[in-house]
Amino acid sequence: MFQRLRHLTTLESLSRDCIERLLDRAITMRDACAHGTRKLDLLNGRTILNLFFEPSTRTRTSFELAARRLGADVINFDIGFSSTAKGEELFDTLHTLEAMHLDAIVVRHKVSGTPDELVRHAMSGVSVVNAGDGNRAHPTQGLLDALTVRQHRPDFRQLTVVICGDVKHSRVARSDVHAFTKLGAREVRLCGPTALMPDQQEFPGCKFYDNFDQAIEGADVAIMLRLQKERMASTDLPDEAAYFREYGLDSRRLALAARGCMVMHPGPINRGIEIASEVADGPQSRILEQVGNGVFVRMAVLYEMLAR
Ligand code: NCD
Repeated sequence: MFQRLRHLTTLESLSRDCIERLLDRAITMRDACAHGTRKLDLLNGRTILNLFFEPSTRTRTSFELAARRLGADVINFDIGFSSTAKGEELFDTLHTLEAMHLDAIVVRHKVSGTPDELVRHAMSGVSVVNAGDGNRAHPTQGLLDALTVRQHRPDFRQLTVVICGDVKHSRVARSDVHAFTKLGAREVRLCGPTALMPDQQEFPGCKFYDNFDQAIEGADVAIMLRLQKERMASTDLPDEAAYFREYGLDSRRLALAARGCMVMHPGPINRGIEIASEVADGPQSRILEQVGNGVFVRMAVLYEMLAR
């Protein structure tokens, strides 16, 4: 059944068809942009607000670029200079901004569930896109990761994906798991030190590992995660050198994976902690391709929501 996209807070509620439609649309956007230089006028007259309460480089700039390439107007709401810094409540900020006639709000917040709160409080007609909430979801990252993999390995039934690192605090891992399992990946493995692993019940379809050599064996895709110290209890903080030895991706470990295993990372990468430079910059790295695809996926999402 055709699922109209009104808001995007998590991939969990999207059907496989809807996810595939968004990925197909992202490819159409890529082709229509002719290498990203041409501006389309598909969202002329629409206004999109970027509301980022947490730092971001890739996600925020690519949402902005996506909106501009579609011809929309963009407002970047800088928290440091705004009234939220003076103690204004989130919903007062929201209603103030809404009075300026917005069509969509792209929100990133450290508290899981904030985008859903905005959906409940936003005026009808305003779409909400989650750009990362706490450790819960980062749906456009899940989509862009699936797109990057699909471009190289279109048959997901043959696919073994390993996600390694601080899975417990990672909204990227959660959205990736939703994307890859919905699209029919054969196996999704999660690996990390016990203190940084989530409850297994949260990921019923995944295989859990604490040994990275075993987890990466035969994998077609290795997605590395940053240690998200900002969300960790100080007792969870591993020693970085020891962490790299056990869970870092270097060329020795990559050789255990399937031939041509794709190396991915949502960024920002920490060289020498979760990934060695030789791998991050090596021939199997798809990290910059992920960044490029981020713009097309976000164009697809905004278009599906806002096109008349
Ligand atoms: C991720 C995030 O913010 O969740 N980064 C991103 O969006 N590119 C992952 C991270 O911060 O480690």
